[in-house]
Amino acid sequence: MLGKINELTAEIGGLSANSAGEAEELRIKYLSKKGILSLLFDEFKNVPSQEKKAVGMALNQLKNSAHEKIETLKKQFNQQSDKGENIDCTLPGSPFPTGTRHPLSIVKNQIIDIFARLGYTVAEGPEMEDDWHVFSALNFPPEHPARDMQDTFFIGTNPDIVLRTHTSSVQVRVMEKQQPPIRAIFPGRVFRNEAISARAHCIFHQVEGLYIDENVSFADLKQSLLYFAKEMFGQDTRIRLRPSFFPFTEPSAEMDISCSLCTGKGCNMCKNTGWVEILGCGMVDPNVLENCNIDSKKYSGFAFGMGIERITLLKYRINDIRLLFENDIRFLEQFRTAH
Ligand code: DAH
Repeated sequence: MLGKINELTAEIGGLSANSAGEAEELRIKYLSKKGILSLLFDEFKNVPSQEKKAVGMALNQLKNSAHEKIETLKKQFNQQSDKGENIDCTLPGSPFPTGTRHPLSIVKNQIIDIFARLGYTVAEGPEMEDDWHVFSALNFPPEHPARDMQDTFFIGTNPDIVLRTHTSSVQVRVMEKQQPPIRAIFPGRVFRNEAISARAHCIFHQVEGLYIDENVSFADLKQSLLYFAKEMFGQDTRIRLRPSFFPFTEPSAEMDISCSLCTGKGCNMCKNTGWVEILGCGMVDPNVLENCNIDSKKYSGFAFGMGIERITLLKYRINDIRLLFENDIRFLEQFRTAH
């Protein structure tokens, strides 16, 4: 019996398998209920009692090493299949977290899209500007408060170099370079020396619009801005123009839209008036045209300027402008859109 056990120990020690199936066959051959080892255990009862101790130990050792051997043979194939064979390529992949556009970019792109449909192109100008483009060419008198340190950021000690306080400066740059017809909008960042609060920030964004040609009238201005308001805030939106004053337009107006929240009945957002202001506009002052070498007898036109933050707050009903600058991902993730 001991001889048989030694033979089997050597035989099992040298086993090998080429597949998981082959390893399973070996398990059945040696370790199953009717396998070779079981038969050997059955024979154990015939072993003379003085040999039982030595044979029993050898038999148990053989059984353990056979189990170990077959396990190792099987494992080698399990590991291989983990490496690739059993991967289901049709399962959905783990989602890859993508970023979102900032709400200000979404709204800026919408504004550009809407005016593009009316034939407006897009131009940009520098954020650091000279006095001429921000103030003088736009008909600001020398004593105008916007030229004051209280309102405007100056670069160093040079009183001529400022951070632009509005994108109207790009009007001047475009008109200096190009003769009418001109139909363009100018999005960009502007800077004002203001305390930061829920309603105001010292850095914000505007979109300026300019349309210069022969025979451009106030009616054209009104119709273009009505189209914009309806496209941006919904087809039921109404507008109203209130007389106002800007140095670079004459006549000038401020435009309100009917409150999108209460549709005109009165609420917190419109301070119970049913209207909210969204932009300034007017017919370009002839002085401004002449400052830019455009013949004011031949050409006329209109301009308008709006704050992108203001439009964004109204559109998404956000009550604090600072949320737009904090870059809190929990806030920004709410603006997943196709834009
Ligand atoms: N530049 C003005 C501002 O920053 C906005 C504005 C008003 C622009 C009237 C215009 C306009 O072009 O015609 O408040």
